[in-house]
Amino acid sequence: MFNVKKTVDFDQSQEAMVIGFFEKKKIDGVVSEIDTHLNGQMLDLLKDGDISAKFKRVSKIHSLGNSSIKRFYFIGLGKQEELTFERLREAFGKVVKSIDEKHCESLAILLDTFVTEQIEQNEIAHAFGEALLLSTYQFADYKQKSNEPEKKITNVDVYTQADTEEVKASLFVGSVYGKGTNSARTLVNLPGNMLTATDIANYAIELGQKYSLEVEILEKEDMEKLGMGALLAVNKGSDEPPKMIVLKYQGREKWEDVIGLVGKGITFDTGGYSIKPKDGIVGMKSDMGGAASVLGAMEIIGELKPDQNVVAVIPSTDNMISGSAFKPDDVITAMSGKTIEVLNTDAEGRLALADGITYAKHHGASYLVDVATLTGGVIIALGNDITGAMANNDDLFTKVLEASKEAGEPIWRLPITEKHKARVRRSHVADLNNSPGRDGHAIFAGTFIGEFAEDTPWVHLDIAGTSTTSSANELGPAGGTGVMARTLATFVERFENNN
Ligand code: BES
Ligand code: MN
Ligand code: ZN
Repeated sequence: MFNVKKTVDFDQSQEAMVIGFFEKKKIDGVVSEIDTHLNGQMLDLLKDGDISAKFKRVSKIHSLGNSSIKRFYFIGLGKQEELTFERLREAFGKVVKSIDEKHCESLAILLDTFVTEQIEQNEIAHAFGEALLLSTYQFADYKQKSNEPEKKITNVDVYTQADTEEVKASLFVGSVYGKGTNSARTLVNLPGNMLTATDIANYAIELGQKYSLEVEILEKEDMEKLGMGALLAVNKGSDEPPKMIVLKYQGREKWEDVIGLVGKGITFDTGGYSIKPKDGIVGMKSDMGGAASVLGAMEIIGELKPDQNVVAVIPSTDNMISGSAFKPDDVITAMSGKTIEVLNTDAEGRLALADGITYAKHHGASYLVDVATLTGGVIIALGNDITGAMANNDDLFTKVLEASKEAGEPIWRLPITEKHKARVRRSHVADLNNSPGRDGHAIFAGTFIGEFAEDTPWVHLDIAGTSTTSSANELGPAGGTGVMARTLATFVERFENNN
């Protein structure tokens, strides 16, 4: 897909060329070369203000036969000192999208026109590779009249004076991050009748085969033997078998310092007998967003092969109603041995995760990050752009926070206090209850999961608000966002045990 070259070949015909354009920056280097090639017309356009340097403004200039390059897309980058990696990625998304709509197969980009004092070519290449995949993502829907684009960008010529091999590698890494995110988006977008726990398990098996990851799928009988009473309780009302899905990536000689990634894989959440109202139930096909993030991250990890050890655990089932479904007041026993009084069958995610966390530890996880579409409360607290985080360990939280910043996926930490723990532990009949109340219930949900992480350093990410979006932006359409796939993969890539 990417060809990295040092010089522009003006004899070769090209459909479109992307050029970055900063405010108050003189035309120099390769752009002035192009301008000469165009007999100075570009400078005229600039003087006349036909090309805008305003951030994210795309100016499309047709060469009208004066160049072998048919169209130039200038992307405004604003002030040089204000450009960040994140803003750059957005700008790339914007310009790529405006080209994609015109059905363009091949593309050229002048990478060096994006360089600033803070951002060098390799970062630019990463941002571009990522943005290219993210911004052109489409979910293959089920309309008779399909929305498949007529053409797709399949070839990109990247011009730069930097080390071409390094730039090529960075473009690849960026595109891998984009691709993993897009896979997560697709999983989130699939409806519940087309993505059951069995389907997620099969997807994980395929991923395992592709990247030589060890895969383990626990069946209902296995779970019974292991005493996974929490996940099994959620599955009780379903005709679909539950799956505990495990993927192992071993990038080190010894299976130690293992990072456990645990993703909520509820393929549809009716709420069970604590049934959701008709408006609240729509969209619950996305209740496996955490599983999607983890699988997206495992795809990135499988491609990039960092020297880390990772175990991914996905407890998966739907949450349904029938004569055999679990009920409020039921008391269940989780794999860890803790008993739970079920006060609300719609607080099912924390039950599935309880056994997921315990099983990740069983597989040697010494650090835990769970990701889940866990509570409506986190949407009220933080909205749809910020993922809620909780942790029992400041150091691990800082690492996840740094990864989230690098990935451009903001998180914000909520507290766990002794009072919250006491509320989660309040029950006349069991060790824990699964729904202490609606006051700050995002915190109770996380606190509950923390009871199963115990002393293992742990970070919880509640993506109920961020895993889907109702509106398109530069980097993707409405629907599944694939949020946290990139954060998790970045976290794993950068992880260092500094104890
Ligand atoms: N899957 C939901 C959370 C959710 C809500 C995700 C909206 C995405 C959008 C979760 O299982 C749930 O039902 N949570 C309850 C918890 C309550 C019963 C304590 C909630 O948030 O209302
Ligand atoms: Mn629920
Ligand atoms: Zn749920």
